[in-house]
Amino acid sequence: MINNQEELRQTANLLAARGKGLLAVDESTPTIGKRLAGINVENTEENRQAYRGMLFTAEGIGEYISGVILFEETLYQNHLDGETMVSKINKLGIIPGIKVDKGLSPLAGGHEVETWCRGLEGLAERTAEYYKQGARFAKWRAVLQITADGCPTDLAIRENAWGLARYAKICQESGLVPIIEPEILMDGDHTIEKTAEVQEKVLVEVYKACSENNVFLEGTLLKPSMTVSGTDNSNKAGSEEVAKMTVRTMNRCVPAAVPGIMFLSGGLTEEDASVYLNTMNSIEHKSATSLTFSYGRALQQSCLQAWKGSDIEAGQKALMARCQANSESSTGDYVAGSQPSSQDTLFEAGYKY
Ligand code: 13P
Repeated sequence: MINNQEELRQTANLLAARGKGLLAVDESTPTIGKRLAGINVENTEENRQAYRGMLFTAEGIGEYISGVILFEETLYQNHLDGETMVSKINKLGIIPGIKVDKGLSPLAGGHEVETWCRGLEGLAERTAEYYKQGARFAKWRAVLQITADGCPTDLAIRENAWGLARYAKICQESGLVPIIEPEILMDGDHTIEKTAEVQEKVLVEVYKACSENNVFLEGTLLKPSMTVSGTDNSNKAGSEEVAKMTVRTMNRCVPAAVPGIMFLSGGLTEEDASVYLNTMNSIEHKSATSLTFSYGRALQQSCLQAWKGSDIEAGQKALMARCQANSESSTGDYVAGSQPSSQDTLFEAGYKY
């Protein structure tokens, strides 16, 4: 039997494998409800099963996707044909993962927009069960926001970094690779330099907390937002600058022991998410850590619109197109516009998951 650290290292390396990334489909029930409402589909368990079942039977998707992040309902759900969703996912050669945080709550003592992330209570018992159910990695989304009046505060940074590190350690004890997600929202009119400054501070605090909690870094993945300007900034940085600044931030703050940096899309359009990632992988970057994707909205928008509640073939085709595009972006081989994408704005103020 392989030991716990070796298993974690292997799982993390499989998830960060060259040319692959993660499909985030761990939207909470209210959030997937908003997506389904956008195509006039009711938010019932049956419809969620049909939609996600369509994703997990897209033949060949395992060529581009190494892992899928599930919401708890899906981890325990069957496909319409009776087979478990976990089995469908495994058959595609994809590793199932699970969102384990319990969402965000207002941070007492912080600024009014600030939050802390719930879910540590009982987490060890839950992660042990999730492992038995077939999950091999987990996600915890902590959120920070930049405001003109001083956010994120030191309190918010410290609380969220500590929560991520506690979660990471607990997951590792159950054999789950923790995805450490300190998202910095795009809300605001700040410059890209401001984002970089804040993100550096946050990442340093996250890895300090990981060290204090004896987290085994080789068995973790980071899921950061890209270093971008605030959405309301009138002089928004373009792809070259975003790529350069993001790579600089990651090089400065992420320990080389971490095998993969899997970016979230955070409200970028499908095409921007691909182009930014591709540009990062086209410029010289020192670290051997892979720079790839773990997109939710930017992998699902055109798929949802093509599926429209019933067209499985069209939905899977659209999904494959974005998966292939981002796989190419993760090696710097994507030609902008070479795959169809939705032009929709995917940004939502104060995004909840
Ligand atoms: P987006 O790519 O839609 O930002 O979602 C990724 C995710 O998992 C956020 O936690």
